[in-house]
Amino acid sequence: PAVEYGLEAPFSVDYHDSVGSTNDRARELATDGASDVAVLADEQTGGRGRLEREWSSPAGGVWLSIVSRPVIAPARAPLYTLAASVATARAAREAGVDARIKWPNDVVVPVDDDGSYRKLAGILTEMEGETDRIEWLVVGIGVNANIDDSELPPEATSVRAEAGDVDRRAFVQRVLEEFDRYRNDLEAVVPAWRDLALTLGQRVRVDRPSGEIVGEAVDVTDSGALVVDTGEEQVTVAAGDCEHLR
Ligand code: BTN
Repeated sequence: PAVEYGLEAPFSVDYHDSVGSTNDRARELATDGASDVAVLADEQTGGRGRLEREWSSPAGGVWLSIVSRPVIAPARAPLYTLAASVATARAAREAGVDARIKWPNDVVVPVDDDGSYRKLAGILTEMEGETDRIEWLVVGIGVNANIDDSELPPEATSVRAEAGDVDRRAFVQRVLEEFDRYRNDLEAVVPAWRDLALTLGQRVRVDRPSGEIVGEAVDVTDSGALVVDTGEEQVTVAAGDCEHLR
C-alpha cells in the first residue's frame, strides 16, 4: 500500500490504494453495522463533494471517511461536521499550514487579510436514521496533502504548497485523535471552531434554501448556525453555502 496505517487511535482502518469514494465504502460498512472505522484511500476515482460537486482526489491526498454511531439528537449532527473541520485545521496547523475555517466547514488558507482564501480541505457528512435517532453517521474529510499544484482545482491549495510534504500517517492520526476528543465533548466544538474561523467579521453572501442574504457574519450559535447582520436584522442561517465578499 501507498501508506501504512497502523494507527494508535480508537478507530480500525480500512485502507485502499484506490477506491471510488471512501464515503461510499464507509456507507457500506455502516450499513453492515460497523462503527469507529476510518476508511482511507491514496486515490479516489469518484470523490464526491458537497452540493453534488465532484471532488478531485489524486494520489497523495488524505481521503478519509469516519463511521460513527453517535447517540445524540439528529439536530446536533452538524456539530460532528464542525468537529471534523476543527480536527483537520488543527492537524494542518501542526504541519505548518496557516489553516482556518470558512463557515460551515471548509478548511482554507488566507491569501490576504481581506478574507480571500484558497481551499485546503472539505468535509462531507452523510447520515441515516429517523427523526429522533441517528443510525450511523459518516464524516468524509478530503485534504489536499501531498499533491502538485498542477493536479489541484483552481482556488485550491495543498499542504505541499504551503508547508512541504506531510507524513500522512501521522497527520491522519492527529485528525482522528482530535475528532475523537471533540465528538466526546460536543460543548467544546463551537468555541474551538470560533477560534479558527475566518468567516467571522467578513462581509458574506449566503445561499440558503429560502434565498440569498448579504451582510456581516457576526457570530455562530451553539448549534453552529451562522448569524448574519444585514443592516436591518440579524438572520440565523443553519445550513447553506457562504461566500466571502470583498
Ligand atoms: C466539499 O465539497 O468541500 C466536501 C469534500 C469532501 C471530500 C471527501 S474526500 C473523502 C470523502 N470521500 C468522498 O467522496 N468525499 C469525501
